[in-house]
Amino acid sequence: MNTTTSSQEAAWTPRTWRDYVALQQPEWPDGDAHEAALEQLSSLPPLVFAGEARELTERLADVAAGRAFLLQAGDCAESFDTSADSIRDRLRVILQMAVVLTYYTGVPVVKVGRIAGQFAKPRSSDTETVDGVELPSFRGHIVNDIGFTAGERTADPNRLLTAYNRAAATLNLLRAFTKGGYADLARVHQWNREFVAASPAGQRYEAIAGEIERAVQFMSACGISSETLTDLRQVDFYTSHEALLLDYEEALTRRDSLTGDWVDCSAHMLWIGERTRQLDGAHVEFLRGVANPLGCKVGPTATTDDVLALCETLNPTRTPGRLTLVTRMGATKVVDQLPPLLLAVADAGHPVVWVCDPMHGNTFTADDGRKTRHFEDVLAEVSGFFAAHRFADTHPGGVHLELTGDDVTECLGGGAEVATADLGSRYETMCDPRLNGSQSVDLAFRVAELLRNGTH
Ligand code: PEP
Ligand code: CO
Repeated sequence: MNTTTSSQEAAWTPRTWRDYVALQQPEWPDGDAHEAALEQLSSLPPLVFAGEARELTERLADVAAGRAFLLQAGDCAESFDTSADSIRDRLRVILQMAVVLTYYTGVPVVKVGRIAGQFAKPRSSDTETVDGVELPSFRGHIVNDIGFTAGERTADPNRLLTAYNRAAATLNLLRAFTKGGYADLARVHQWNREFVAASPAGQRYEAIAGEIERAVQFMSACGISSETLTDLRQVDFYTSHEALLLDYEEALTRRDSLTGDWVDCSAHMLWIGERTRQLDGAHVEFLRGVANPLGCKVGPTATTDDVLALCETLNPTRTPGRLTLVTRMGATKVVDQLPPLLLAVADAGHPVVWVCDPMHGNTFTADDGRKTRHFEDVLAEVSGFFAAHRFADTHPGGVHLELTGDDVTECLGGGAEVATADLGSRYETMCDPRLNGSQSVDLAFRVAELLRNGTH
């Protein structure tokens, strides 16, 4: 795929970002060890293949055209200590949500995890001060550790290699689950964990699972089963993360032997964060040159000129599926801020996938000092997103969520009502508050209703 204009094309290499200002890069005290880690990374096998990234671009082209829906979800910051059970449970809640969305809307759901590489976090400040002690901020497990000691907060280049290894192990497990029988539609009941099943959304899910089970039995009686039709037994699940540490991404960027394109083989899809989407910045420079499908966060300060320029730079060939704009305006702003952007992009003829991140514009500090989000605000932003698309006559392409399959108490409200007083009981996130399993399934039902009642 030719993703750059001819004058820019000559100039781009996986290293040209180094001539631009790269925000949010850590300071590595041991420069030699950092260089050695990058060199080793560049000789390791790719984590994903170019053909898979191309296939995801095609799936996303269906989303851009309104023929499919994107569910992009997972952790805010993955931990190096994540257990196999926790990885399975995140997959399982995403499969549950996809079933709800597909069942209600009859539209295929493209499943992309914030997983197997979502280890780097942008921070609003380089340092954190506690009781008069100032230390570097936690930047995700790919850089340093969350504990508040000088040793734990020092950027350690060995973590780049650990991140690669953890991503490989996570991806291996995901491939086994999605291709090896766990995702078989005949097991739709087993994806409902006990604590989710006990919630109102979980009970609603049980009802759908019962219907699907009957349909599967019926088809099996007619000779169509997961043994004869692999589509019933397997799902396509793609990986994504914020492309924040550019030297890590550069080291995993390889030439596709088939097309000659450069592909960032650290994940199928990469996105640019709200804090690093400057047009003249290093992140945009790096990502414009890789052939992967790209995401870019768009917050409330983005102007129509900013968004149009991002579309031109990141997708000059206007390839459908190449560019996903992930809007994160906040529940109170989305109805005013989003329509002008939708209209301008449609006017310019850019085939963008529009996705709603209803998490990052709705974070606040609760009375107990913890960062949280209210389920009702999340829902209100999704609802405003759908309304904006109805107004602009564009496709609401999907949702981008921070969630976990675990029974955490990080976001308020939802079907099984988490109250401020509950936040402390299982607040486990290393960064932003995530929806728990039952809040996630609850949200899937609400999104499905919005989708079904929309005009699209
Ligand atoms: C994130 O997705 O975790 C994140 C940091 O989002 P944003 O760039 O939109 O603030
Ligand atoms: Co986050």
